[in-house]
Amino acid sequence: MESAFNLENFDIKLDTEIIGRNIIYTDEASSTNSFLLDPSSAGNINGTIFIAEKQTKGRGRKDRQWYSTKGLNLTFSILLTDKRYFTRHFNLINFATALSTAIAIENLFQSKTELKWPNDVLINNKKVAGVLIESSSKGEKIERVVIGIGINVNQTSFQGSYNVNPTSLKIETGENIDRETLLAELLNVFEETLGQVNSNYKWILKEWKERCGMIGERISVSDGENTKNGIFDDIDENGFMLLRKKDKIEKIYFGDVSIV
Ligand code: BTN
Repeated sequence: MESAFNLENFDIKLDTEIIGRNIIYTDEASSTNSFLLDPSSAGNINGTIFIAEKQTKGRGRKDRQWYSTKGLNLTFSILLTDKRYFTRHFNLINFATALSTAIAIENLFQSKTELKWPNDVLINNKKVAGVLIESSSKGEKIERVVIGIGINVNQTSFQGSYNVNPTSLKIETGENIDRETLLAELLNVFEETLGQVNSNYKWILKEWKERCGMIGERISVSDGENTKNGIFDDIDENGFMLLRKKDKIEKIYFGDVSIV
C-alpha cells in the first residue's frame, strides 16, 4: 500500500549526528544523485539526504535505468562534502554503503543478506538494493560525493529485464515494511560504518567478505566489452577484485559478476 513518507516518524528514529540531519524530500525528481551533485540546487551541507518518491531518470550502474514504483520503495541520495572522507580508502565508501544496507536489513528483519561485488545487496540470490556513487571534482580534488541508494521495499511486482532478478523486502518477509524505520536504521548504521572507512577499514573488508558468497568461486566478470573468467580470489584493501587465472592474479576495477 502506497503512503507518503512521514518525516516526523523518520526523524524520531534517526540517531545520527551528521547524516540525514538536513533532509530534502520531494514527490518527483529526475535523479536524486543528479540533484545532489549540483551545488546550485542542493547547497553544500555535509550529510544532506535527498529522498524522492519517484525518479523520472533514476540511474543504476553502467548507465542502466533504476526502476522503482512511486511511493513504495526508497530512492535517495546522501551528500558528502567533508574532505576527511576523501582519503586513501575512498573507494571503500561503496562497500561501506552496501554493507550498511545489509546490516540494517539484518537488524530489522533477521533476513539473511548477501553482498555481490561491487555493491549489490541480495536476499535469496535476488537483488533488493543497489548503490551508485558519483562524485564531482575540481582538478584533482574531489569536491562532493553523492551516494545513491535504491531499495525495493514494498513493491511486489517487477516488469522489464534486469541483469540480476529483483526482489523486495515485502516479498521476502511477507510483511508491509515501514520505510521510515528502515531509512533511519540504515542511516544510523551508515554513519558508524562510514567512520570506519578511515579508522578501521579492515573491519569493513571483513564484514563485507563475510557476506559475499562468490569469493572462492569460478566466476565471469564482464565490463560490457570484455568478459574475463577466473576464480574470485579476494578483494584488495580498496575493494578491487582479485581474479585468479592459473597462477596469475589480475585486478578488476569494475564489471558485472556472475558464477559460471
Ligand atoms: C545499481 O544497482 O545499478 C545502482 C542503483 C542505484 C539507484 C539509486 S536510486 C537513488 C539514486 N538516484 C539515482 O539516480 N540512482 C540511485
